[in-house]
Amino acid sequence: MKNQKRIAILTGGGDCPGINAVIRAVAKKAIYEKGMEVIGIEDGYHGLVNNQYRPLTYDDVSGILTSGGTILGTSKTANPYRYAVRKGRRLEFKDLSKTAIENLKKLGVSCLVCIGGDGTLGIAHRLFEDGIPIVGVPKTIDNDLRGTDITFGFDSAVWIATEGIDRIHTTAQSHHRIMIIEVMGHKAGWIALHAGVAGGGDIILIPEIPYDVNIIAKKVKERNKKGRRFSIVVVAEGVRPKGGDIVIQRIVKESTDPIRLGGVGFVLGEQIEKITELETRTVVMGHLQRGGSPTPFDRVLATQLGSKAVDMMENEEFGYMVGVSGNTLASVSLQVVAEGTKTVPLDHPLIKAARSVGTCFGD
Ligand code: F6P
Repeated sequence: MKNQKRIAILTGGGDCPGINAVIRAVAKKAIYEKGMEVIGIEDGYHGLVNNQYRPLTYDDVSGILTSGGTILGTSKTANPYRYAVRKGRRLEFKDLSKTAIENLKKLGVSCLVCIGGDGTLGIAHRLFEDGIPIVGVPKTIDNDLRGTDITFGFDSAVWIATEGIDRIHTTAQSHHRIMIIEVMGHKAGWIALHAGVAGGGDIILIPEIPYDVNIIAKKVKERNKKGRRFSIVVVAEGVRPKGGDIVIQRIVKESTDPIRLGGVGFVLGEQIEKITELETRTVVMGHLQRGGSPTPFDRVLATQLGSKAVDMMENEEFGYMVGVSGNTLASVSLQVVAEGTKTVPLDHPLIKAARSVGTCFGD
């Protein structure tokens, strides 16, 4: 029996492979199984503030399972509670949350599904506290969200980074060079750890373990002595040297988290080359890790998360997101996500396994 409920979907923060698969799962199940009407909010919270939206039909969400990005558009800066308005060269911040909430109320939706990372879901939590019925779906290549073992997008990013490391391996071997591959992950080392292990990195540097460049150089020299005349260093963008600081690429003032990382690979490259006197090159994987088609794992995960989000809407589990715990999906309060990020524990089994095969973590 159709109940004619109307729901809305919003995608916020950095894009990643699998968002469209979630949109598809939510919309198809809502339309096909529940007889609901679905609205797509455009460009993240910008759309909520400026009343930009469009209906999503079954046809609109067909054929998007494998496509990268988000058909709804996204924003890493729009925040209804601190909405940046440009006045000439100046930025002014306004609280437009009441406008956003009014717009949503006028749309008559019974639930807003927010697909996003810590920034987006943190705002979703505030909107929920201000009376908006919200269900969250955890998204980020960084895998740094609390309350879930894994986020969709992570597996795809690891796959792309690993492919990059594999390709760098052959050129490193041929030229007897040290190759540094900088990967994303913000202040967490999940991508570097997983891609580093999968790609056989000789040295893996993660933000959770501050490094000493002399220890890295020692490892490279030891390898050289043993006839391994190349080394692969996988470095997370958010690493810091012991007693030192992270490398900031730019500050995006209007963003919920203004710091954009990047460039530590070049700093390290120069230092390692100087100490070892071995030719060194740096490759920054950058936004390649967020582009293109999701892996089969992420397509499956995204479909499960989207389907569960609709169940949660039906059960009126508002203020919660779909979390992954072992092999099951669980409802997790958005409060948990808002409390901080999930970094790699120092006793993580993968760190232990990597150390046991001789991988150096720069410590
Ligand atoms: O959170 C996803 C992410 O790709 C991080 O890994 C990275 O630090 C950041 O976003 C890059 O942000 P931007 O797309 O604004 O350059």
